[in-house]
Amino acid sequence: MSTHRKGSVENPVDPLAQLADMRRQAESGGGEERLRRQREAGKLTARERITLLFDPDTFEETDAFVTHRCRDFGMADQIVPGDGVVAGHGRVDGRLVYAFAQDFTVFGGSLSETNAAKIVKIMDLALKMGAPVVGLNDSGGARIQEGVLSLAGYADIFLRNTLASGVVPQISAIMGPCAGGAVYSPAITDFTIMVKDTSYMFVTGPDVIRTVTHEQVTKEQLGGALTHNEKSGVAHFAADDDAGAIQLIRELLSFMPGNNVDDPPRRVTSDPSDREDGALDTVVPRSANQAYNMVDVIRGVVDDGALLEVHEHFAKNMVVGFARLAGRPVGIVANQPAHLAGTLDIDASVKAARFVRFCDAFNIPLVTFEDVPGFLPGTVQEWGGIIRHGAKLLFAFAEATVPKLTVITRKAYGGAYCVMSSKHIRADANFAWPSAEIAVMGAEGAVNILYKRELDAASDVDAVRAARAAEYRQKFANPYIAAQRGFIDEVILPRQTRRKLIATLTALDTKRDRNPPKKHGNIPL
Ligand code: HXC
Repeated sequence: MSTHRKGSVENPVDPLAQLADMRRQAESGGGEERLRRQREAGKLTARERITLLFDPDTFEETDAFVTHRCRDFGMADQIVPGDGVVAGHGRVDGRLVYAFAQDFTVFGGSLSETNAAKIVKIMDLALKMGAPVVGLNDSGGARIQEGVLSLAGYADIFLRNTLASGVVPQISAIMGPCAGGAVYSPAITDFTIMVKDTSYMFVTGPDVIRTVTHEQVTKEQLGGALTHNEKSGVAHFAADDDAGAIQLIRELLSFMPGNNVDDPPRRVTSDPSDREDGALDTVVPRSANQAYNMVDVIRGVVDDGALLEVHEHFAKNMVVGFARLAGRPVGIVANQPAHLAGTLDIDASVKAARFVRFCDAFNIPLVTFEDVPGFLPGTVQEWGGIIRHGAKLLFAFAEATVPKLTVITRKAYGGAYCVMSSKHIRADANFAWPSAEIAVMGAEGAVNILYKRELDAASDVDAVRAARAAEYRQKFANPYIAAQRGFIDEVILPRQTRRKLIATLTALDTKRDRNPPKKHGNIPL
């Protein structure tokens, strides 16, 4: 760590050489030794990450010469231009994006008053310009030597994260430590990607936990990439390494507009809009209790079978992610019969609700594939607040004003029918496959309630139950009563799903819908 080159009257400094010198210092971060340790830890440096993120030669750095102002704890002698964060803007697939990368080689990437100000500056610019913000986090948290100035810097960032939410997309990658209150910036952003083995996030670390609760837990177990992807749902993606995480960010950005008033970018596709996938006609098993993989259905419908799953490892009974139809980005929300029979539980509801709200905020149409037997029963769910959490998904779908298309492939039972983008909560187009069953509940449950006395009195209970269930199925296990009412717009052959969705999406291109004026709704949090 060094200071600026100083001249004298006899030997004035060559200004160009001085600039080159300053740049060299800024680019060398915390010095060769710390850069070597960074690489040995399996991590790229902040500058290498930025270079990978942006299209070649498009990154324009801001505030490379900013230094901290701390004079305590011997800090006056430790000055590094840039002060531990690389910030600026560049192009991703030709589109403007702002980004910052914390440099762990400079004071452990810790947040100082001045490096927070750099981050705040690019966030303000991103908001003004209507461009996404990407944060590459690798930091020991608040810079201890700066005390409350550092905490103030965090709060300044949290405020920007909040004000930018729903205005410009915000993506966080965790590529090293992210602990204490610092976790709340990524938590407010739209998507969090963690790198396996090298990143962790927690509010209080293993040492504090051991002291307070006597639990023994490693950093990885407590807050590693898989923990937050599988257990807590804090992270949406787990990447194998830094390069994979950055590639993922580029891919994610390709589905999003720069801001909430632009439309998402379209791509040319060679996948024909009228392509029919015959396999879809037989994907739903004859038996209502047999599972199938909804991801196969989605891939059979969308452009080139390409689905970028969000939260792939969390609440697997719900699938959400980005895909394209005729080149236009769509948000997919789908029950997954292959996991927990596709029931809605707390985690699935929260996962889908947040995704629906992101798509709605950024003009990304929603396509829902539905096969849901209802909400997951049990004390764990009821005491955990499934009423409150299930309401989030209902609220999110109901308030969404983007084009909403729904395909019921099999079960649409009970309250879950209402929740999953039904006609009644303003879906624009509701299709059903001939295998759809739209009813208050499944046959077995209904027969047990409706024919309780008859079953109690019957000598051959099984025969009566089977006969009554067949009767019930005949009446309700089909899409035609809903279609008679207009709650289903059309019963379609599964193989035609792609064509129907694309034609409808095209017609909905000019959709304009508004919610009543209000400060904001009060979604049940
Ligand atoms: C200043 C810090 C620092 C910090 C690390 N460093 N954290 N400097 N403030 N918060 C410096 C170290 O002194 C060291 O400097 C260099 O960064 C690398 O740190 P190491 O400890 O050698 O690295 P490693 O062994 O990899 O451990 C990384 C670490 C550890 C786990 C992050 O450094 C650590 O525990 N740091 C403190 C974490 C912390 O408690 N932060 C405050 C959290 S509270 P040299 O010169 O040797 O290279 C918080 C509040 C936010 O953040 C509030 C928001 C509301």
